[in-house]
Amino acid sequence: MLDLILRNATLADGREAVDIAVLDGRIAEVAPAIEAAAHEEIDAAGHLVTPPFVDSHFHMDATLSLGLPRFNESGTLLEGIALWGELQPDLTAAAVKARAHELCRWSIARGTLAIRSHVDVTDPSLMAVEALLEVKAEVAPWIDLQLVAFPQNGFYRDPLSAENLTRALNLGVDVVGGIPHFERTMAEGAASVAALCEIAADRGLLVDMHCDETDDPLSRHIETLAMETHRLGLQGRVTGSHLTSMHSMDNYYVSKLLPLIAESGVAAIANPLINITIQGRHDAYPKRRGMTRVKEMLGADIALALGHDCVMDPWYSLGSHDMLEVAHMAVHVGHMTGRDEMRAMFQSVTTTAAGLLHLDGYGLDVGCNADLVVLQARDPIEAIRLSATRLYVIRRGQVISRMAPTCARLNLDGEQHDVNFLR
Ligand code: FE2
Repeated sequence: MLDLILRNATLADGREAVDIAVLDGRIAEVAPAIEAAAHEEIDAAGHLVTPPFVDSHFHMDATLSLGLPRFNESGTLLEGIALWGELQPDLTAAAVKARAHELCRWSIARGTLAIRSHVDVTDPSLMAVEALLEVKAEVAPWIDLQLVAFPQNGFYRDPLSAENLTRALNLGVDVVGGIPHFERTMAEGAASVAALCEIAADRGLLVDMHCDETDDPLSRHIETLAMETHRLGLQGRVTGSHLTSMHSMDNYYVSKLLPLIAESGVAAIANPLINITIQGRHDAYPKRRGMTRVKEMLGADIALALGHDCVMDPWYSLGSHDMLEVAHMAVHVGHMTGRDEMRAMFQSVTTTAAGLLHLDGYGLDVGCNADLVVLQARDPIEAIRLSATRLYVIRRGQVISRMAPTCARLNLDGEQHDVNFLR
């Protein structure tokens, strides 16, 4: 007796009328018209069924703090960092945890069941680190939360960062972070990349750095990150996040850089919602929008995921942790409007992101975790177009969230019409 059969699913690869059988929290079979009994059956009714969304870049220690202690009136990165500095002394573990748990509930409702969150290690008490490690354990039944030790004020620029980062890793933080463009000089930035990659190599950890999150076309720490990855044999284990300076770089230099990144096996994360609002703030017209070169990186076979980065915090006032909104913005700001390009953006918030996080058991193959999302859409492009309603969110074969289908009832001259925006 199976635990669950999800019937009549459409999959992102185009397969239709597929049944998915679940036993003991894992996918037991994926085939048309499975003839078996199950304790529970769900009719997907031809809707798209996907493995969960994955947010590969987030800041859970700051989320939902919007308005504390005041709003970011200029909307700039620098006012956001200043505001975060004002807020930090007043943070309590209880408040950080409460906000993180609320955000995780939003994530579950949106079908996002894996999150990589950076956590600032600037505060010597490591209060936020300890709070989010507790949250990680508490939400583990529903969400895979991966934490990155993030020296927000610079690894060298802040004299406490090196010690705090080591202590955070000793406490169980998963990934080594960094922020080379925020160090005092380009040389110190490059040195920080080398030092942090060595820490990761020594400990057998992954790396994910905020890298070149600036409009400066000469901010080239991604080059050092690729070289250090190559030197230390960390291929497939290192990610550069943001990479917004690549938007402004000299095109000839980029033609050399892209193969270097690809050769080193460094992955990239773009954060389109945040970068389009934060970059280019020093520009008159035309204004750069700061999106890294998504189309060109995909063309160079560089793994590229998309992150939400922020929800209602000092840097970004909006959001409900909907990874389809992220993909929607990436399609627009990246000129990714080709059919395959839109499908690639869907993969950047699902399978590509899962690979980048090294998630175990992710996917729709037999033996994978039975973590599934039923969307009110028939394919990935429609899902992005509609920011589709998550009809069911399933974790290890259990329905943990359900949402009523989006449908309007129109009354036009006495005639009733249902409108659900599907085609
Ligand atoms: Fe970030």
